[in-house]
Amino acid sequence: MSSLTVQAAVFVGAQQPLVVRELTIDSTPGPGEVLVKMAASGVCHSDLHALDGDWDTPAPLVLGHEGAGVIVALGADVTELAVGDHVILSWTPSCQKCEYCVSGNPVLCQLANETAYQHVFFDGKTRLSDETSPVKSFLAVGSFGDHAMVPASAAIKIRKDAPLAQAALVGCAVTTGIGAVTNTAKVEPGSTVLVVGCGGVGLNVVQGARLAGAKQIIVADVSDEKLELGRTFGATHTINSRSADLVETVRALTNGRGVDYAFEAIGLPFTIEACYEAARRGGTAVVVGQVADGVKISIDPFVMSDQEKKLIGSNYGSSRQSIDFPKIIDLYMEGRIDLDSMVTDRIRLDQVNDAFAEMRQGRGIRSVIEYDLSPDYPAF
Ligand SMILES: NC(=O)c1ccc[n+]([C@@H]2O[C@H](COP(=O)([O-])OP(=O)(O)OC[C@H]3O[C@@H](n4cnc5c(N)ncnc54)[C@H](O)[C@@H]3O)[C@@H](O)[C@H]2O)c1
Ligand SMILES: [Zn+2]
Ligand SMILES: [Zn+2]
Repeated sequence: MSSLTVQAAVFVGAQQPLVVRELTIDSTPGPGEVLVKMAASGVCHSDLHALDGDWDTPAPLVLGHEGAGVIVALGADVTELAVGDHVILSWTPSCQKCEYCVSGNPVLCQLANETAYQHVFFDGKTRLSDETSPVKSFLAVGSFGDHAMVPASAAIKIRKDAPLAQAALVGCAVTTGIGAVTNTAKVEPGSTVLVVGCGGVGLNVVQGARLAGAKQIIVADVSDEKLELGRTFGATHTINSRSADLVETVRALTNGRGVDYAFEAIGLPFTIEACYEAARRGGTAVVVGQVADGVKISIDPFVMSDQEKKLIGSNYGSSRQSIDFPKIIDLYMEGRIDLDSMVTDRIRLDQVNDAFAEMRQGRGIRSVIEYDLSPDYPAF
């Protein structure tokens, strides 16, 4: 058995900075696993939720779940992937056997819920360790490390001419945002759409709405800079919800009617409630943002039945990653969506705590950690 040293940013407890240190991967890939030399990882607000203690997250754990890289070793039975393949990591590996996987909803995979969402592998164990204890990988990905061992179903092959920093973002924000529009809500051409929150996820909801042919895309945020970015990605109207009443302004912009679809992409109870209110009679509010553990919302059930309003959730853009990741990469390579402007900062792993500070202040879209792939990505 050989082992590999991994340089990683480790979560050691809520509200504490990540600690960059060396960990060990104890063995070559086991059955159904691949080892990925990471090229890039985005920093997503879900990592910040864990870091802030919004969610009960075990320590020690390698954070990061929005990554791309190159396969450097394969488990003996992995036949559909090869060393040298470029892959985007999925934070919901699919067992490909449960009723959700078989019926085409791998984001709801029963086994992933019981294992990856607890930050362990399908066998309930970790693959990383330090001198004293096992170390978990966030969502069984742990992309804040220069190597990641992942289930083969979590490594989605993409074309080799796509730049891996941009591709990394497809591993979470892009698929989550575009998929919420195209897969979850199935927005029709000519629709009116509201997007609340213009971060990495919300701006991709905007791109998705543009792709779907929405005629009006209203964005709301508390930052004028983010609202301007919203326009760049396709918004037709902007609302600074610090200075204007969100629901009233949406009604005014839609002849008093409300929008066909309202997407919440922050994760706050009052903005989720506002999205529900801003949806028209018969309209749909989509919860994409994720709240802290235990947070509840208040909805008037009379309005729900009387006005036939729908409130639905979207996990990972209801994606089927093996179909959606390569498709989204093609859209990018054909110039139909913009991923270049989403990478607002390229950083080293040891600058990851600064990226969280930027995110807390609402600056930039995505900081992307870039790892050294040279000279020829050696592994074991
Ligand atoms: N459903 C999913 O599968 C999924 C996947 C990834 C991320 N998420 C969640 O989506 C949310 C957004 O993630 P992100 O990475 O885009 O975050 P982000 O930090 O990049 O963006 C959040 C945006 O919200 C804005 N904002 C903050 N408070 C606001 C307020 N009160 N009113 C209006 N705007 C406000 C900020 O200015 C910022 O532009 C997070 O909760 C994250 O956990 C969900
Ligand atoms: Zn994410
Ligand atoms: Zn499954």
